Amino acid sequence: MEDQISKILFSREELLKRIAELGEEITRDYQGKNLLVLAILKGAVPFMADLIHQIKIPLAYDFMAVSSYGASTTSSGVVRIMKDLERSVEDVHILIVEDIVDTGLTLKYLKENLTARNPESVKIVTLLDKPDRRKVDVKPDYNGFKIPDEFVVGYGLDFNEQYRNLPYIGILKPEAYQ
Ligand code: XMP
Ligand code: MG
Repeated sequence: MEDQISKILFSREELLKRIAELGEEITRDYQGKNLLVLAILKGAVPFMADLIHQIKIPLAYDFMAVSSYGASTTSSGVVRIMKDLERSVEDVHILIVEDIVDTGLTLKYLKENLTARNPESVKIVTLLDKPDRRKVDVKPDYNGFKIPDEFVVGYGLDFNEQYRNLPYIGILKPEAYQ
């Protein structure tokens, strides 16, 4: 598995250090607010797990699943909700947790969909941002790291469901997916 990684971009230590900073900011911004941390399955799970330890106010968390790339590494632009929330969100401030913003299509759709449910607010935290690839106007409110346009895996990010268990973020060798 690890021989398919050409470069480690962020070690576990670097990830945890940045996540602690994000947690501090979020803790400050959501003081006294009813916070719902909403992780997007499956890629955001390791990030969410580490992030919530660093958010030092009461919160609830939940999950949504949307259709993703499958075996392809380029976005289809088609977003489908595979698993939805089971309760009303009218009384909560939603913080969407994503692994990566690429074209932005997924988050644009999700943000609009959630906003239509009349929550107190909707914001986005993403671990990684690939701004060069953006196709639609969507900006994360909190971002861990900006990265170049390369396919990355690990720490929740997959290729074909593999590599999610790597404890770091690495660049996948093109021969692993070409
Ligand atoms: P969009 O294009 O809608 O896509 O912003 C976001 C989703 O695309 C996946 N994605 C990646 N997954 N390595 C991955 O493992 C990558 O480099 C990558 N770029 C995009 C990811 O599922 C994300 O939620
Ligand atoms: Mg994803």
